[in-house]
Amino acid sequence: MTQDASILFSPFRLGDIELRNRIVMAPLTRNRATHGTDAPNDLNVEYYRQRASAGLIITEATQISQQGQGYIWTPGIYSPAQVEGWQKVTKAVHEAGGKIFLQLWHVGRISHVSLQPNGAPPVAPSAIRAKGQTFVESGFVEVSEPHALTIDEIKAVVRDYVAAAENAKKAGFDGVEIHSANGYLIEQFLKDKTNHRTDAYGGSVDNRLRFALEVVDAILSVWPRERVGIRLSPVSPFNDIADSDPAKVYFPLVEKLGARGLAYIHVIEGATGGARDYAPFDYVGLRKTFSGAYIANNGYTRELAIETLNAQRADLIAFGVSFIANPDLVERLRRNAPLNKPDQPTFYGGGAHGYTDYPALA
Ligand code: PHB
Repeated sequence: MTQDASILFSPFRLGDIELRNRIVMAPLTRNRATHGTDAPNDLNVEYYRQRASAGLIITEATQISQQGQGYIWTPGIYSPAQVEGWQKVTKAVHEAGGKIFLQLWHVGRISHVSLQPNGAPPVAPSAIRAKGQTFVESGFVEVSEPHALTIDEIKAVVRDYVAAAENAKKAGFDGVEIHSANGYLIEQFLKDKTNHRTDAYGGSVDNRLRFALEVVDAILSVWPRERVGIRLSPVSPFNDIADSDPAKVYFPLVEKLGARGLAYIHVIEGATGGARDYAPFDYVGLRKTFSGAYIANNGYTRELAIETLNAQRADLIAFGVSFIANPDLVERLRRNAPLNKPDQPTFYGGGAHGYTDYPALA
């Protein structure tokens, strides 16, 4: 059955912001920040400007501190040069009529000593090394064994989130998205495979939610609640993570996020970049638990997006890989035009090729 496609191109009020369509550009790591400073540069400005017809752009994951970095050449939001670089990005997107949120990122244990301040071990809730690799200057390497954060160190990380959120304001973003997905630091606290703590930050579900909620509350001291969203991946195994009972963690979490009035939850359904039915989970129920908007992500095609919006299973749809390969994705979806093929070898690192040189429709 062919469904009415117009819903995908209809405006949506997200918090107090009017989005011009329901199409979100998902956060996408591209490893093309300026080498040495990790500040956004003119090429990054051009890339985001090209994609500003999205209803909302969520930037690539952006480290809140050097400790929060897990891959080489990802951008930061903790130095004046980085804030200046992002100012140029937000200005370009706004001039093109777009909206843009910054994704605030701390990788936790998914890092390597060569990326950390003074070659220190990366940090995590518990000293459990992930089975997996990261990307450093010399190529792919196994991630390093992490150090378990002390309570004082946890408080310092929360302060880093506050400083980063303040910088995001200075940089002219419309809002921020808290990265609490894909096996990075906040999710490492949420899930029991990675959190073996026996203090106030581990054990019971309430304790495992504590760090996430402290970060949320800290950011709400900087940004109004309608300008803050969060990304979640309840069942994704990405970065060697799992929980024995995700519903037991995510339903109470989302209820508490709703009580705080967050603008949206951005949910990766299934395995990140993989099977949507990787493990059973009641996303519709999760959405009903939350008072704000629901952004659905993972493997959405035009057809599935339209069907999902018409069935009211989501408010907005985030597209990832198809936005890498199609700067004019919105127009292509509108015309039901063919999409460019993504070129995987140029996803991470490099220059303009595979970044700003994908053709738009004639
Ligand atoms: C990555 O750099 O591969 C990456 C970063 C953030 C994600 C997922 C993947 O959420």
